[in-house]
Amino acid sequence: MFYTRLEIRLRGKMATVRVGVIGCGTMGKIHVNAFRKVGAEVAAVCDIDEKEVKYAREVLKIEHVYTDYHDLISRKDIDGVVVVTPNYLHYQMTIDALREGKHVLCEKPPAISAKQVKEMFEASRKYGRKLLIGLTWRFRKLSSILRNYVLKGKIGEPYLIKAYMIRRAGIPGYGSWFTIKEQAGAGPLYDIGVHMLDLSLWIINDFKAKEVLASTYAKLGPKGLGKGTWGKPVPGGPFTVEDWAVAFIKMENGTTTILEAGWAGHISRGDYNVVIMGDKGGINYREASIYSEENGVLVDTKLEVGEEKPVENEARHFVNVILGKEEPLTKPEEMIMLQAILEAALKSAEEKRLVKISEVL
Ligand SMILES: NC(=O)c1ccc[n+]([C@@H]2O[C@H](COP(=O)([O-])OP(=O)(O)OC[C@H]3O[C@@H](n4cnc5c(N)ncnc54)[C@H](O)[C@@H]3O)[C@@H](O)[C@H]2O)c1
Repeated sequence: MFYTRLEIRLRGKMATVRVGVIGCGTMGKIHVNAFRKVGAEVAAVCDIDEKEVKYAREVLKIEHVYTDYHDLISRKDIDGVVVVTPNYLHYQMTIDALREGKHVLCEKPPAISAKQVKEMFEASRKYGRKLLIGLTWRFRKLSSILRNYVLKGKIGEPYLIKAYMIRRAGIPGYGSWFTIKEQAGAGPLYDIGVHMLDLSLWIINDFKAKEVLASTYAKLGPKGLGKGTWGKPVPGGPFTVEDWAVAFIKMENGTTTILEAGWAGHISRGDYNVVIMGDKGGINYREASIYSEENGVLVDTKLEVGEEKPVENEARHFVNVILGKEEPLTKPEEMIMLQAILEAALKSAEEKRLVKISEVL
């Protein structure tokens, strides 16, 4: 049962969708801005940090500001809830909001275990409300263009993927939840590895993973090196996650993905890419190019996609999901598998052995 545009208009708001944002930190504020840009109303915000509460009231001019998210999700005039809190809170807040009849946009990683992600989507089905995961890279034009090329057979059968997002000194929120294992679930693997892995598997439209072999390291973080600028650092706070991860992921059909995610390492500079090799062509995401060999010559196809506004596109999509005009771009099976692969990678690194996906599902 969804709110129709008519029902929303009947509230006297001229079809304005109303959302509430839980967690108004670094990313929460970006969401507030994006929802306003696409014409939605940010009716309420919740944060436990008094500084953020004051900012939401005085600078963002949010009408209803709470410190307990239960007060936000129980509001009858809110259609959608955006969960932008530390990773370990995604699970409970999402389920509670769905139970209150709200559609939910939950930030990435979906949760901190595949089992939790499964339960979140079960709740979405049970309460008849949609759940979208904030995998922002899917909302770049280039991502869907490349996916369409792959779906139409332009690169043939993909067989090898190299996906990475690595930084020289980019540990976010040092000492905060970001660097506490129980609260983040993992370090760069869950924080940025999740983006590149999802982007890769979404482009090739295959999330059927079989097994994972991975290594994680924490060489700079524990020494207080490699701090970045994102997030809200907590002086004296701990560092109990990895600062670098590399995983070798085998799919059921034999495709291999080499995933690397790093927050801090002695390299010349940060970088990211998704490179996909297929038997008819190959993709280089960063170069926005497709490579092939046709009629005896090597062919480079360069794509010009213009300015990207992924967070706004994601907000617009969520509004359309609320209105029943679009189905969530992130599918339950994909999200469960995405989390399972990352969880298997962590387990593999911890136990120093190959881990089958079936062990974490
Ligand atoms: N999609 C993206 O590209 C992207 C980018 C950055 C962060 N994120 C995700 O967004 C989430 C938040 O990250 P961030 O960088 O904004 O972190 P942050 O630390 O800057 O903000 C988190 C906020 O949540 C608040 N909070 C903590 N517990 C709370 C509770 N019980 N109730 C209400 N508020 C609570 C904190 O006070 C803080 O203001 C994370 O899951 C992160 O992975 C996604």
